Amino acid sequence: MNINWDELRNVAKESMQKAYAPYSKFPVGAAALTEGGRVVAGCNVENASYGLGLCAECSLISNLIMAGGGRLVAFTCVDGHGNVLMPCGRCRQLLFEHSAPGMVLETVSGLKTIDEVLPDAFGPRDLEERK
Ligand code: THU
Repeated sequence: MNINWDELRNVAKESMQKAYAPYSKFPVGAAALTEGGRVVAGCNVENASYGLGLCAECSLISNLIMAGGGRLVAFTCVDGHGNVLMPCGRCRQLLFEHSAPGMVLETVSGLKTIDEVLPDAFGPRDLEERK
């Protein structure tokens, strides 16, 4: 599938503008493309109880599920300057759960697959195979 990364990054930038990040003052926006060609997005949503803050990827996954689900084929994430940001470890796990095989992420070191950014990931299949 041919991915328009500029377009996807622009959606992430627009989403970043919606971030609720009064505590860290570090807004984040994320955008992804599904196998079906849908674009889903999210922003970080912080909380006065600091540890409860939600990452942009968490918001994106919630939006994905609310819009009917689907598997992600491409993902990008930006900081408050619109520069590509690496998804944190927890968020890589969130993305892995909903990834299509070979999902590609735009990262600080170029395009990488989900398996490259989360090697030997624990996932739904492990639950089945290791019962
Ligand atoms: N943040 C994200 O939204 N996604 C990431 O992958 C990295 C961190 C947010 C969490 C917090 O609201 C702010 O960035 C500073 O850590």
